Amino acid sequence: MLDLACGGGHLLGLLADSNRRHTLIGIDLSHGELAVARARLGARASLLRGKAQALALPAESVDVVASHLALMLMDDAEAVIAELRRVLRPGGMLAGVVGARSWASPVLDAFVRLYPAASQRAEFAGMRFGDRRFRSENGIAELLAPGFDSSQFEALTLAHERTPTQLWNWFSDMYDTDLLTPAALSDLRHDYLEALQPMCGPTGTLHYDEHYRLFSARARA
Ligand SMILES: C[S@@+](CC[C@H](N)C(=O)[O-])C[C@H]1O[C@@H](n2cnc3c(N)ncnc32)[C@H](O)[C@@H]1O
Repeated sequence: MLDLACGGGHLLGLLADSNRRHTLIGIDLSHGELAVARARLGARASLLRGKAQALALPAESVDVVASHLALMLMDDAEAVIAELRRVLRPGGMLAGVVGARSWASPVLDAFVRLYPAASQRAEFAGMRFGDRRFRSENGIAELLAPGFDSSQFEALTLAHERTPTQLWNWFSDMYDTDLLTPAALSDLRHDYLEALQPMCGPTGTLHYDEHYRLFSARARA
């Protein structure tokens, strides 16, 4: 069982606790994330550094691939899906959770509206944010069509009440704002907190829904 882009190994830890039948493998391109995963998992999973676009695993050697909140960050989506098809045994399962962008949230809208102004900066030059097809059901179905059958989709929503500062901490961590200069980061923080203020309820919090999409498919025999 492969966790593609396993990050710090949280999912592999859950799988190790609940599944004794499978050998667990985690692959990620980040040395730092793999170091965290290694400390968390010890010998309970084999951890490999590598890219999803070129997996160092034999053909048809994997029963299940899981990937949590990572596929939508990856470029060259066709190569990623072709690699997953190659390493899965025929009939093996691919299960992924990806971010499902929703523009209905004023809280996220405010961040997205202010963020490009900051992201015009040189620190962001050449930076890309994955393949948009992973953000929609049709896009995922298109990517899976050449090698997978029986695609299924489920919308997942996490509802939160958060203070503006909590929302700033969440979005600024998620969107690589550490690449900004301290002055640009401070301006972005100020503008975002100011934009959220009128949206707060009497308790000083805002409602925020996070939208995700769970999908699964079987490698074509
Ligand atoms: C948002 S994190 C999710 C980590 C983990 N799956 C989790 O849910 O905690 C995205 C991960 O994808 C990894 N990643 C991004 N692109 C990758 C690629 N092309 N090949 C392998 N790993 C990749 C990053 O290093 C990072 O650890």
